[in-house]
Amino acid sequence: MRELASAGQSVRWLGDLALCDGPPRALAWPAEIFADAEAVSIASIGDAARQLRARQRNWVHLSLEHHRRGELIAEKLPHFRAKAFRFGDSVPDAPLGHFGLLDANTLLVLPRGRSGVARGEFLFEENHDGPPSRAYLKLWEAFTRIGLRPAPGETCVDLGGSPGGWSWVLLQLGARVIAVDKAPLDDALCAHERLTVLQQSAFAPLPTECERADWLLSDVICYPERLLRLIEERLARPDPPSIVATIKFQGEAQPEIAERFAAIPGARVVHLSHNKHELTFVRLRDTLGVTPSHL
Ligand SMILES: C[S@@+](CC[C@H](N)C(=O)[O-])C[C@H]1O[C@@H](n2cnc3c(N)ncnc32)[C@H](O)[C@@H]1O
Repeated sequence: MRELASAGQSVRWLGDLALCDGPPRALAWPAEIFADAEAVSIASIGDAARQLRARQRNWVHLSLEHHRRGELIAEKLPHFRAKAFRFGDSVPDAPLGHFGLLDANTLLVLPRGRSGVARGEFLFEENHDGPPSRAYLKLWEAFTRIGLRPAPGETCVDLGGSPGGWSWVLLQLGARVIAVDKAPLDDALCAHERLTVLQQSAFAPLPTECERADWLLSDVICYPERLLRLIEERLARPDPPSIVATIKFQGEAQPEIAERFAAIPGARVVHLSHNKHELTFVRLRDTLGVTPSHL
């Protein structure tokens, strides 16, 4: 993976899992980043389960080597099943560890991961009737992982809002929404009293009320450099809003541009479970004093 190579760390690949030296780094693309990995000798399946239980309750088996033996260890641990989130649920506080077998007598123990969910994969109980596009799942995941979302009455500017999946989420939360897109929004959504639609380019001047917004969301299809400029310009002005924006790549993803987004003070850049060939940029308003815990 180019991102790991550019970090200059020594890497050993075990299937999809990269074992790296040193402290965890805030890489954008991995589904999950584990800290404090440990290789632990085991005498038997029962001994492996005992050693894991002594550390904490919840474990997920990552199939590395000796899949069947790993499953037998998992059977001796408290049952854990990844549950789909209902939007509004928090990421559970209880630590969730992962383990795998490096060989028959060595466990790889990964006591905690950045996301806090099994394999870093966020699943939701979906809404098949309300939202006019499936893009709403990205925003559900972003807010769940940030641990914060727009409050009722707050103003959100939704750039590239058509057909309206993100605006639907924001309206459901009780926010006032200004959706900006060259394309129209879904007719049923347009009737909503808290929604204003501006059918124009996201990069053309916006009404001054957009300057006072609490949240700036962007899912615009555009070159990453153009989005970066828009975000930098907004951050340079007084009292910038909290920002959630999709960085879309055409062709090969460019690590240099992702690093420029990540270098913005207070920013996080991650690949959400619901992102495709894109990353999500998050930067919360300074005055909130909140650090997103699962990004
Ligand atoms: C992935 S879609 C957005 C989906 C939307 N977030 C949702 O939840 O339904 C990307 C949108 O970017 C819009 N777009 C592309 N270039 C734009 C521009 N310069 N200004 C405004 N919107 C633009 C497209 O019209 C399209 O609706």
